[in-house]
Amino acid sequence: MESQIKETEKLTVSGLDDICFAETKLSQVDGESGQLLIGGYPVEELSESASFEAICLLLLRGSLPNRTDLAEFTTSLGKCRAAFFPMMLQSAENYSNGMDFLRASLAQIELQSDSANGTEILIAAAAVAAAAWSRLRVGRQPIAPDPTLSHTEDYLRMSLGQQPNHHMIAALNTYLVTVADHGMNASTFAARVIASTGSDLASAVVGAIGALKGPLHGGAPGPVLDMLDAIGAPENAAMWLDAELQQGRRIMGMGHRIYRTRDPRAAVLERALQNLEASGHKSPRLSLARSVEKAASSILAERYPNRPLHANVEFYTAVLLDAIGLPREQFSPTFAVGRIAGWCAHVAEQKKFGRLVRPQSTYVGPMRHQR
Ligand code: COA
Repeated sequence: MESQIKETEKLTVSGLDDICFAETKLSQVDGESGQLLIGGYPVEELSESASFEAICLLLLRGSLPNRTDLAEFTTSLGKCRAAFFPMMLQSAENYSNGMDFLRASLAQIELQSDSANGTEILIAAAAVAAAAWSRLRVGRQPIAPDPTLSHTEDYLRMSLGQQPNHHMIAALNTYLVTVADHGMNASTFAARVIASTGSDLASAVVGAIGALKGPLHGGAPGPVLDMLDAIGAPENAAMWLDAELQQGRRIMGMGHRIYRTRDPRAAVLERALQNLEASGHKSPRLSLARSVEKAASSILAERYPNRPLHANVEFYTAVLLDAIGLPREQFSPTFAVGRIAGWCAHVAEQKKFGRLVRPQSTYVGPMRHQR
């Protein structure tokens, strides 16, 4: 006979809220005050002053690089992009989702037991594969890397098929720096769990890509743009958002597990968009996005008076990546191009200080054995 659900004294925390699982020197997220530090620096400061390569080194080596180290790393990353290009998957036929293409491309990489430049190969490969997919999916040939360029410039050039101007490169650099690391988010946790078993770096990164694909984590920016298109004009926002909530759907780009304020990265990206506009480069959806954010914040505050739900990083990610000419299908892969720096650094930390991650579960099924 089936017995009753067994009582357990262990606490089940389904989303692991408030569970601190590791010590890290990589980034600090303060959800109450709305502050993000990467390697000890406020994200606002880094996003204005540092290149993506410098952030990679900050995360991987623990300090911002001097000129020589930065130049060396930039060159090495360029060489890795060029080396990966011929090894990449040459068809997007079976990959309608860019994250699947990215996962499959990086899964082909075999690293000699986490060789010294394994991290560089993976960071480089992510950019090459993400850019190539966005062209292959529309029947175009991928563009070969130019190893002499910065990672950001080359990624944008390979994606667009033309030379971007320096305002566009600066905007994308701000984006990649801003998303490079963010505490113990779901994909980073996934990477650390895989690393904790003694598995290799490429496997950990591939697992993290799978986690980032989900709309509750890194998959929201494409749907944010869909939402802006569906709303069309500021005066439609309140009614559209209300109907969405009535149907039990979530407003994409709003809310966050940790932040009880507006996500500080949303402000950084909004400022980058302002700079882009000031340079004469129009952001077609910025003004509408601001109106929709305002309407969404107000409706969500009414509906959830005790749960602050504000714009998160993905809201303005959509507007920024759209403004520099990337298609919405490439938004999540571009997120991975930035976040891979954090994943690799977390894997290294996990390997150095961590233990096998092995939580428990509470069995609530029937007891079928006879006593
Ligand atoms: N739109 C509508 N309702 C939302 C919401 C949103 N964007 N975010 C949270 N809520 C609601 C939840 O449905 C929940 O309501 P309920 O108690 O009636 O079920 C309530 O607010 C509390 O949310 P909670 O479960 O504590 O949120 P979470 O921490 O599990 O979720 C996110 C965090 C990011 C997953 C969530 O805010 C969300 O789904 N946002 C939209 C997707 C998105 O932008 N993802 C990118 C994140 S960077």
